[in-house]
Amino acid sequence: MRKNIVAGNWKMNTDLAETQDLISDLKKIAKTSDAEVIIAPPYTNLYSAFEAVKGLDISIAAQNMHQSASGAFTGEISADMLKSIGVKTVILGHSERRAYFGEKEDLLAEKVNTALDNDMTVIYCFGEELKDRNFSEHFEVVNKQISNALFHLDSAAWKDIVLAYEPVWAIGTGETASPDQAQEMHAFIRKTIADEYSQEIADEVTILYGGSVKPNNAQEIFSKPDVDGGLIGGASLKAEDFMAIVNAF
Ligand code: PGA
Repeated sequence: MRKNIVAGNWKMNTDLAETQDLISDLKKIAKTSDAEVIIAPPYTNLYSAFEAVKGLDISIAAQNMHQSASGAFTGEISADMLKSIGVKTVILGHSERRAYFGEKEDLLAEKVNTALDNDMTVIYCFGEELKDRNFSEHFEVVNKQISNALFHLDSAAWKDIVLAYEPVWAIGTGETASPDQAQEMHAFIRKTIADEYSQEIADEVTILYGGSVKPNNAQEIFSKPDVDGGLIGGASLKAEDFMAIVNAF
């Protein structure tokens, strides 16, 4: 079901004590919006974070997951492991996973299948690089990133998919897509899904924007009709900034 979501991707930041501190700071700030709040700490802190947010209106996501159920995959984490500590949401396809760990859409399609088979929610990330936009290929690139990893799914599966459009040139750079650029792409994404599936499914899917969302630009970006929230990196590491973004709805 389409809803407003603000998700914090902590990336490879925060040790155990910092995770606890950040969550206790989040607790101190009143939430005044109806947005669903998700935080994605690193693996080592997922369980303590899950315990720490009990009773709060915050849920926990993992930043990645392996596609296999179990086995000889040194260093990897499975869906079962995540579920066993209460984590039911996973971010897949982040541009840093694509760029630094070689994750391609055929692999991401497998990861998506595994997550859905395990009744997890997927936050599927994608977005063009600056060169794609400069060559006016951004719509084509985004279309491929979505269709290659997700269009094998049946209609019913889409209830567990959240999309996160994150133009690579806006991640961690301080450069944000303008609210109009975000809206233009989000509308394109919705139309792409409507063309492949149905208008109903397109209308129901939650589409987040990510890339240098800060307290001073969140409200304008979130006010766009096809933007349903944000995936927040840097600004999610400061409780005040993150809650200001949550409360921007
Ligand atoms: P940023 O990161 O907010 O620091 O640009 C966003 C993301 O990578 O999800």
